[in-house]
Amino acid sequence: MALRPSITFAKITTPKKGSVLVIAADGGVLSEAADACDPQGILKKAFGIAEYKGKLATTLEVLAPYGTDFDRIAAVGAGKPEALDETAWSRIGGASVSALRKAQDVSVIFEVAGAEPSADDVAAFAFGMVLGSYTFDKYKTKKKDDDTAAPAKSAKITIMCANPAAAKKAFGGSEAVADGVLLARDLVNEPANILGTLEFADKVRELEKLGVKVEVLTEKEMKKLGMGALLGVAQGSVRPPRLMVMRWDGGKPKDQPIAFVGKGVVFDSGGISIKPAGGMEDMKGDMGGAAAVTGLMHALAGRKAKANVVGIIGVVENMVDGNAQRPGDIVTSMSGQTIEVINTDAEGRLVLADALWYCNERFKPRFMINLATLTGAIIVALGSEHAGLFSNNDDLAEKLLGAGTSTAEKLWRMPIGPEYDKLIDSKNADMKNSTGRNAGSITAAQFLHRFVKDTPWAHLDIAGTAMGAPASEVNQSWGSGYGVRLLDRLVRDHYEG
Ligand code: BES
Ligand code: MN
Ligand code: ZN
Repeated sequence: MALRPSITFAKITTPKKGSVLVIAADGGVLSEAADACDPQGILKKAFGIAEYKGKLATTLEVLAPYGTDFDRIAAVGAGKPEALDETAWSRIGGASVSALRKAQDVSVIFEVAGAEPSADDVAAFAFGMVLGSYTFDKYKTKKKDDDTAAPAKSAKITIMCANPAAAKKAFGGSEAVADGVLLARDLVNEPANILGTLEFADKVRELEKLGVKVEVLTEKEMKKLGMGALLGVAQGSVRPPRLMVMRWDGGKPKDQPIAFVGKGVVFDSGGISIKPAGGMEDMKGDMGGAAAVTGLMHALAGRKAKANVVGIIGVVENMVDGNAQRPGDIVTSMSGQTIEVINTDAEGRLVLADALWYCNERFKPRFMINLATLTGAIIVALGSEHAGLFSNNDDLAEKLLGAGTSTAEKLWRMPIGPEYDKLIDSKNADMKNSTGRNAGSITAAQFLHRFVKDTPWAHLDIAGTAMGAPASEVNQSWGSGYGVRLLDRLVRDHYEG
């Protein structure tokens, strides 16, 4: 786990030293407690010079303010008070990080003129600070913190607010979620030479410390189960496949579990249908779905969610090799359905076919939601703003869309249906894994649909959101950890208690 700032909560006082962060309301108005930190009006003078107006998530900092013992006094804007929702507070928290470059000892005066933020607002702010502080720089051997606009990773941040006990309690849950997001980011950012299939399994086993039950199925066991689709993808790599089952039993013993399934291709070269060289390095992130499921299990166990949850990830490497599968090969999936492999680069659906079937057969879950960096076509359709949502169940889809709105991990529902399903019929087998370019994300979803029977199911195509999304206040990193917040919220709002 990456180092991250440690955050504590306290009553509002006037700090004596270190760095001070205050919140400026719309128009650049400061609260009383903020004013008390700035008796000479240095910050206000700076606001005037910079024409700083406290707009949402903008910052201004004054270093070594004359006549004080502070290292800096900085402001972050809260913008219009009526627009201050959870997402806004997280953005404000994330934005404040850029004004605290290298600060070690930070006091946040959490008071806003003209507004009365709740304990949840304080928690959302702190959550944003943690997410916004994350950088993946472990391989930079020269002065790690030098080129990142973030507080020192060992920073101590004290958030001074009206009700520190309530804020601490509210943050208790979100801190576990933040740690889940950071874990997912780490997994996505880690290069494939370091994070192979077995190393991924080691990471998953670490969840046992949180009380998650972990099983790791080997190649031999998968052979026995008849997982010919997943194994076909893996056969070109010297690194053996693993299917991992994570279980968090926080609900009533008799409650049917809910299930999350992730695509974990630690590297996707395309196989024999090899990808072009340009941008191929991004395919180290083709395990973003598996990373999100792992991060989610971490979050749920970390906050002791009252739900029975199964996480299953299929972890393989798609490589080019004398033993790699060929276009034209026909494989038999665990379901018994046969698949003609038209394109070895459409490998994610092969992995998920067996993972979904296994999940459904063994756990009979209330629903299955799978996450996968499945198609380039979803990036063409939705860019990095929304992940694609495909579902056979309107109720589940609505709940997911709602969780997307609350967490700003947005979804856009795409169609599925029998007309699209026909497109994946094959002359030589029950289905084929690739069709033409048209409706590429939908035909991929139709493929998965053939492995879920009537279980309520949703497929999230996160190829555009899991990695390479533009930086934001809450994410400066290539790997975003997309999906952890979204699904934690889905569970919290609908499947606990
Ligand atoms: N992992 C890729 C999809 C992808 C592309 C993820 C870009 C993230 C960024 C997937 O395995 C793939 O190669 N899909 C093919 C499917 C095609 C061969 C039917 C694609 O999208 O081109
Ligand atoms: Mn591929
Ligand atoms: Zn892939």
